[in-house]
Amino acid sequence: PSVAVVVVAAGSGARLGRAEPKAFVPLAGRPLLAHALDSVFGMGEGLDGGRSVQLVVVAPASRLDEARAIVEDAAGVASDRVSVVVGGATRQLSVAAGLAAVAPGTGTVLIHDAARALTPSALFDAVVAAVESTAGGVIPGLPVADTIKRVDASGAVLQTVDRSELAAVQTPQGFPLPELLAAYEAATEEFTDDAALFAAAGHPVSTVEGDALAFKVTTSWDLRRAEQLLGGSAQ
Ligand code: C5P
Repeated sequence: PSVAVVVVAAGSGARLGRAEPKAFVPLAGRPLLAHALDSVFGMGEGLDGGRSVQLVVVAPASRLDEARAIVEDAAGVASDRVSVVVGGATRQLSVAAGLAAVAPGTGTVLIHDAARALTPSALFDAVVAAVESTAGGVIPGLPVADTIKRVDASGAVLQTVDRSELAAVQTPQGFPLPELLAAYEAATEEFTDDAALFAAAGHPVSTVEGDALAFKVTTSWDLRRAEQLLGGSAQ
């Protein structure tokens, strides 16, 4: 069965406080998106050998040419298995735009944030394997280290949440394509991740063990941490 990976890179990244959209901010001299694609091309499935993997990158309209250049550079050769499409105003709209470019008949689709630029390829492989064995949605999750409180608007603590029941979830999130497409068609509200949208359509979702390296670059502090992990100098 074939696999497609949709990498969403169309966000502005306002919290990073940089002029360029987040996926195009340099990390150790290369855009975040280029690092994210390293992981996709490192998948055991292989983009050119073994099982076929299709790559769809979702980019801001203003950065289409730059995104195409990054994708071609990462792919090594121009390939009809890779494409770049324009994103939307929200992450959910960007994912929908990416899904529209996925080949019909694809078995498993992974949705991944370009901002999780250091995600190991092995996590992609683990999610694909789990989707194929469970036929449901699969998301990487990590235990929550901090104690979590429910608070009201004034900051008063209402409740301590049982941490043992919580997981901090990451991407890539994997789904059987037909069910995810139907769930996107049925969605009438905005969800915070694809798994929530998929679950709202009545489908089961399970977790696999996440990876600390799959953290999302959101603030300049995250970018510095990523630089340090790559062994470069902090900016
Ligand atoms: O903003 P945040 O970090 O939550 O975005 C997560 C991912 O979704 C990023 O890789 C970002 O580029 C992408 N995104 C998108 N289109 C949007 C908003 C976010 O592709 N409109």
